[in-house]
This record gives sequence, C-alpha cells and structure tokens, in this order.
Amino acid sequence: MEIKRVCIIGAGIMGSGIAQLVSTHGYAVNLVDLSDDILKNAKNSIEKNLERHYVARDKMTKDQAGLILNSIHTMIEIEEAIKDVDLIIEAVFEDMELKTNLMAKLDSLCEKNIILASNTSSLSISDMASQSKNQERIVGIHFFNPAPVMKLIELIKGKNTSDETLQIAKDFSKKLDKRVVIVKDSPGFVTSRLIYTMCNEAIKMKEEGLASTEDIDVACKMAFNFPMGPLELSDLVGLDVYQHIGEYLAMEFGKKYKPSPLIDKMVERNYLGRKTNKGFYEYN
Ligand code: CAA
Ligand code: NAD
Repeated sequence: MEIKRVCIIGAGIMGSGIAQLVSTHGYAVNLVDLSDDILKNAKNSIEKNLERHYVARDKMTKDQAGLILNSIHTMIEIEEAIKDVDLIIEAVFEDMELKTNLMAKLDSLCEKNIILASNTSSLSISDMASQSKNQERIVGIHFFNPAPVMKLIELIKGKNTSDETLQIAKDFSKKLDKRVVIVKDSPGFVTSRLIYTMCNEAIKMKEEGLASTEDIDVACKMAFNFPMGPLELSDLVGLDVYQHIGEYLAMEFGKKYKPSPLIDKMVERNYLGRKTNKGFYEYN
C-alpha cells in the first residue's frame, strides 16, 4: 500500500511538527484542529521553521518552501479531512477517553484500508482501539519533539494490530528518514517511561531545593552529554503532557511514578513550558 495523503488530527506542538516533517517528505497533508486560530498558528510556525531552518540556510528555495506550505491543507471538519487520505495520525491531548472516542469515530467513518495511528506518548494502543471494530488497522506511531529533527520513531503494536499495518507504519517511518524501533504495548513504551521518570526526578530535586534550575540542567548536560537538561526538556515537552504521562504510569505501575507536586502546581498556574511562554524558564 502506498501512502500519498496523510491526515493529522491535532495541530499543537506535535501535530504541527509532524505536518512539517511529512510535507517536507512529499506527502500532502490535511491538518485538523478545533479552531481556525489554532490552525493559523500552526501554519505560521511551520512557515517560520521552513524559512529559518531550510530557506535561510540554502537547504531549500523559497519556491520549494511555498509548495510545501501549500501542500498542507488546514480544516476543522474531520469528515472533510479524512477524504482521500491513506493514513490518519492523531496528535490530540494525552487523554484516553478523548483518543478512544476519536479512534472509534474514525474507524466508523473511514474505509477499511485506511491506517489509523496514534502519536500517544504513553497510553495503551489496545485500550484506545477497544471501541473500534477494525482494530487490526490501529497502531502507535510515536514521534519525538521536535518531530522534524529527532531521528527516532517508536512503533507500538497493539493486541490486535495486524502485521500488515505494522509493516506499512514501518515503511512510512523509513520514508521519513527515521530509525524505527518496535515496542510492546506497555505504559510509556520504552522512551516515555524513561524520559518522564528522569525528568520527574529532576523536578523533585528542584522542589527539594537541591540545586538551582540552571545547575540541575547544566549538571545533566555536562555529566551525561545530554543536548538539554531535564528541566529545559520538560519545558519543551510540556508540563501538562508530563502530568498526563505520570498519572497514567502511576495508575498502571504504582505510585512511585506519580508526578511531583511541583508539576501539578505548574499545570494549575498554566506554566506549561514553551507553549505558554513560561515553565522552569521564561520564553517570548
Ligand atoms: N524544523 C527543522 N529543523 C529544525 C527545527 C525545526 N523545527 N528545529 C531545529 N532544527 C534543526 C536546525 O536547523 C539544526 O540543523 P543542523 O544540524 O543542520 O544545523 C538542528 O536542527 C539543531 O537545531 P539548533 O541548532 O537550532 O538547536 P540545538 O542544536 O540546540 O538543538 C534540539 C535543538 C534538537 C531541540 C536539541 O536541543 C535536542 O535534541 N534536545 C532534546 C530533545 C529531546 O530529547 N526530544 C525528545 C523529548 S521526549 C518526546 O518527544 C516523547 C514524548 O512522548 C514526550
Ligand atoms: P498540544 O497541547 O500542543 O496539542 C494538542 C492539540 O490537539 C491542540 O491544538 C488541541 O486543540 C487539539 N485537539 C484536542 N482535541 C481535539 C479534537 N477532538 N479534534 C482536533 N484537535 C483536537 O499537545 P502536544 O504536545 O502536541 O501532544 C499531542 C500528543 O502527542 C499527545 O498525545 C502527547 O502525549 C503526544 N506527544 C507529545 C510530545 C511532546 O513533546 N509534547 C512528544 C511526543 C508525543
């Protein structure tokens, strides 16, 4: 099966990054979100990224960037956005009920040969597929932030995901020039279980006053050669995303995974990181 057109649902940090990645690899994209304002912001951010990271560095001409941008069609109605697509990737909030209902809706609306993928960080693909009839076509395609840059895709095979679906997801990921790993459907998979646990521990250290924000980050960057410290990284991912991952891991694996109270406090104050211009650091 050849994938030509991709629908991406959710145009936040990940949805817009995935749209940028997929469109620069030659796929037409239908990008969906709840409002025109969100979609406009997403397209603006893709336009800025194409200019800054490709055109300004002579990796792409202005015309090529324009064509890529024009290949991303923004829309609000899911029914319209799923027409003529071969693959749908959902990147809505990390919420099991929302994602399960969305999968069931997509499953009831789409022809059987369309692949339905979730970019969830942590949630069970099998549970998310539980209300859908054609569970064999549902798979986890886990991208990393920033999606155009990070070299890995973690594929998750749910209880009923078919080998054929997994293979299509693998071929698609490779066409995006990503390295693929295949992981069982376990909470947080390999990557989020590890990165969340490390960042949550660093946030607990910050809460204990063990060291300053900067020193915690510098310690990790210089001791382990990490590109970002755990607090900077938490701001990049979003404190709300970590809160959802932590609550889910705690429910599935036990309370040692509970988010630090500082995560809860920051989410309550809307200090979500880069997306709200304030987290452990300030942005503008
Ligand atoms: N689009 C296209 N290219 C981009 C880009 C974008 N949005 N952002 C950066 N780039 C490119 C730059 O042009 C640059 O390219 P060259 O190598 O050709 O020079 C390269 O990426 C590096 O970017 P910068 O020089 O601007 O910045 P940097 O060197 O400080 O790197 C970073 C930025 C890639 C974000 C780096 O700090 C990093 O790797 N941080 C860690 C990110 C990480 O761990 N992500 C995973 C989070 S966990 C997750 O995503 C899963 C989950 O479910 C929560
Ligand atoms: P985000 O908050 O930036 O974006 C989510 C978007 O989904 C919002 O724009 C919201 O309006 C939209 N949305 C919500 N309900 C919708 C619906 N019913 N229909 C259409 N759009 C809807 O979140 P994000 O950080 O992009 O995360 C999205 C998903 O990707 C989550 O499952 C998250 O766990 C996962 N993920 C996040 C990261 C990260 O670093 N932030 C990395 C990998 C995976």
